[in-house]
Amino acid sequence: MDPYDRFELILNDEVVKTPIAIASMAGWVDAAYVLERAAHIGAAFIGGYSIDEATLEASAALVKAGRKEFVYDDPAEELRRQTALLAESDVVCGVNLRGSAPESFQRIAEALGSGVIYEIDAHCRQQPMIDAGCGEYLLHHPDRLAATIEALKSAGVTVSVKIRAGVAGDDRELARQIWRAGADIIHADLMDFGYAKVRQLRNTCPLTLIANNSINSFAVAKEMFSHGADLVSLARQSDATTLAALDAGVTEFADEIGWYNAPKQLCRGGDMRALTFCCMPVKDCPLLPLLKRIDMERGAFIGLKQECVANTPLEEGEHTCFGSLAFCCKSSTPCMFRDMHLRELGLSHQDYMRYKRRMAEKIMARIFA
Ligand SMILES: Cc1cc2nc3c(=O)[nH]c(=O)nc-3n(C[C@H](O)[C@H](O)[C@H](O)COP(=O)(O)O)c2cc1C
Ligand code: SF4
Ligand code: SF4
Repeated sequence: MDPYDRFELILNDEVVKTPIAIASMAGWVDAAYVLERAAHIGAAFIGGYSIDEATLEASAALVKAGRKEFVYDDPAEELRRQTALLAESDVVCGVNLRGSAPESFQRIAEALGSGVIYEIDAHCRQQPMIDAGCGEYLLHHPDRLAATIEALKSAGVTVSVKIRAGVAGDDRELARQIWRAGADIIHADLMDFGYAKVRQLRNTCPLTLIANNSINSFAVAKEMFSHGADLVSLARQSDATTLAALDAGVTEFADEIGWYNAPKQLCRGGDMRALTFCCMPVKDCPLLPLLKRIDMERGAFIGLKQECVANTPLEEGEHTCFGSLAFCCKSSTPCMFRDMHLRELGLSHQDYMRYKRRMAEKIMARIFA
């Protein structure tokens, strides 16, 4: 199957062939590291690369203390060299950058152009980097982080922010600030928070979401996908065997289900995309408190669902509970009435889930308008 048809995933205007990414490890993840693993990944964030005097000095201090860092004289030249090596591959390339000022990021973006994703390292907890005003410093200084995002966006490039969960006072507020400043991607090291953090971020902003930290098996990756992750990334265990197993798992799952990161139903702990599977609001269930939280009247919700399926096969559903497939459950919930109608329409379960995905996208667009 064509990779776009399978995952319908685009980053930086490029099709992502599988929602598995390599996360950066300073001193380790460069173009050569990525090319060795390119068969089983869709994206990679090389670096981190220090890009100005203060952060290069911090890198030098870290090397002196025994850590591995990428060492070079001219950051723009090194990044040009590394990204050129990846340009011919089918891996979407991101560069993870440590800079001490918004202008440093903007300068690099202007030098390299829009062919790569610019990832702000707001994650590093090494003291010399924090002292240089990057890494975790940015999680404690969201205005500075917003200014950095805005500086990059003014250069017309795609921006990712690598965060570490649980460092900012409130990750929801942080996600909102990142979104409002214009970033495109949140790449979240979940630490020990797991899929609950993915769901929280998914319910807070509409950005592309990459889940990270110990996602070394398909079982764990599936938890992340079903709570809102668009991609998962690996750093320490980004070996070819682990990546191949994840790629095979998600590919098989996508072909079987039709929507690789379909949410769990809301009453089973799903994120807000699960509204696509919700019934009419007629009983006491988790739908009602959610509608209250997003300030949507019951009537408006019914109207929105109907609007989202207008002129699609989900519009009708004579024998279903609510007279329309718009209110029908996930394909994994057995139902002869829904399936009878799908058969009449000539739709497979996978087609049904693809239509439900479209519907979820429209619902989320309305919620985050
Ligand atoms: C040696 C090492 C270097 C790292 N360097 C960076 C970095 O430069 N920038 C960054 O954003 N994250 C960096 N990270 C964090 C990883 O990208 C990732 O968030 C973390 O290791 C958790 O994911 P994992 O469980 O898949 O390893 C580094 C991690 C390690 C182990
Ligand atoms: S509306 Fe239906 S699917 Fe949604 S939470 Fe309630 S019972 Fe579950
Ligand atoms: S008809 Fe079946 S799939 Fe549709 S809402 Fe009723 S139980 Fe769910």
